[in-house]
Amino acid sequence: MTKYIINGGKPLKGEVVVSGAKNAAVAIIPAALMVNGVCRIENIPQISDVTMLLKILEQMGAEIHTVNRHTMDIDCTGVKTSEATFDMMRRIRASYYLVGALLGRFGRAKVAMPGGCNFGGVRPIDQHEKGFKAMGSTWDVKNGIIFAETPGHLEGVSIYLDVVSVGATINIMLAATLAEGRTIIENAAKEPHIVDLANFLNSMGADIRGAGTNVIKIKGVGSLTGGFYSIIPDQIEAGTFMAAVAGTGGEVTIKNVIPKHLECISGKLREMGVEVEDLEDAVIVRRKHQLLKTNVKAMPYPGFPTDMQPQISTLLCMADGTSVVTDDVWPDRYKYVDELAKMGGQIQVSGRTAIIEGVGQLTGSPVKAGDLRAGAALVIAGLSASGTTEIEGVSYIERGYENLVEKLQSIGADITTVVLPDDPEMPERDIG
Ligand code: EPU
Repeated sequence: MTKYIINGGKPLKGEVVVSGAKNAAVAIIPAALMVNGVCRIENIPQISDVTMLLKILEQMGAEIHTVNRHTMDIDCTGVKTSEATFDMMRRIRASYYLVGALLGRFGRAKVAMPGGCNFGGVRPIDQHEKGFKAMGSTWDVKNGIIFAETPGHLEGVSIYLDVVSVGATINIMLAATLAEGRTIIENAAKEPHIVDLANFLNSMGADIRGAGTNVIKIKGVGSLTGGFYSIIPDQIEAGTFMAAVAGTGGEVTIKNVIPKHLECISGKLREMGVEVEDLEDAVIVRRKHQLLKTNVKAMPYPGFPTDMQPQISTLLCMADGTSVVTDDVWPDRYKYVDELAKMGGQIQVSGRTAIIEGVGQLTGSPVKAGDLRAGAALVIAGLSASGTTEIEGVSYIERGYENLVEKLQSIGADITTVVLPDDPEMPERDIG
């Protein structure tokens, strides 16, 4: 078992550098399957979700060369299979992007279903299915395997998404890149990683316009060729450090960020009395006074991100009054609430809403992370609380945060990793 041990109550101070975006990397790496030639990709985060995806590509025949810690050359020219049914795929959500990429490249895909949900509710992929079928593909799921195939070529069509889905927008964009004709995705998601994927594909020869708006137009091209690309910084890792400083107090410069992507988070922190100063590619976060209550509604970008909901809810536990948090994206994403209760947090969940009674100070306790962002929230709680917090389930956290412990130590946190025998190598459920 691996645990984090945190002695809380130490204000954070100094500078920390944010890694490349997880949710962009896990879309761009499968996209490399459609490229003939070498893709040199920079700013790849060193996290276990990425390592697993790279292993999956290698098992399919890709040649991957590490240039340096965050830069890889990925060459999928030699991949001959449209099948990816490895066990590892069931552990990461983003493995379903292989369906779009393989359909685009070979016109068929046989891919293991991504793992089950662990937010508490279902995580449907009906919008992915709807998109692929509209483009002329079949879609069958048998024994946990997705079979998709088109008799001829995928055809460009207009697709209206019934829900704003990051995954469906990305998957359809992937398949449409090498389809015949023009695909229009309406009611598309607008997250920064969608724009990043479109920029990656365009730099390899694709013709995608409108990414970042709710209408994306993709003109199919005959082939993609290799090139260079640098992944954007991780909005949620940056937001997590911002929240950590808000929780502990102190002053930290968070570097390698795009402040525009953080506006939804900075705005809420300012409402809570936290100072956030935007620089060109950094933000300075200071917290000198008691946190103020506020209300938060998690929504698709540019709304407040659901992937920051557990972290901001943790801060609101320490604020000066009652706050209301609603998650419209993952209505059941409140599994961390029972753990925060062990630290003195007072949160009542009703449907998709949490009523949070600020208690001022949390107190250290043994707790367990049930998923990635829940784990990040518990780290923030531990750093801000009085006394010692022990966090189990850290393999979830390390799937999405590169060197979290080392980065926090470098800004003054008293956090250490303790490895005890019998840690399962990797959690079985998906998190991203
Ligand atoms: N939805 C459907 N049908 C679909 C797809 C989605 O009804 O076919 C619904 C979902 O149930 C949910 C909403 O649409 O209520 C949004 O889901 P979305 O498809 O946008 O989520 P996702 O693609 O499965 C990605 C991120 C998540 C992040 C969400 C929302 C990756 C690998 N995962 O998931 O990241 O929470 O978008 O922004 O990009 C995380 O990083 O911690 C994480 C969970």
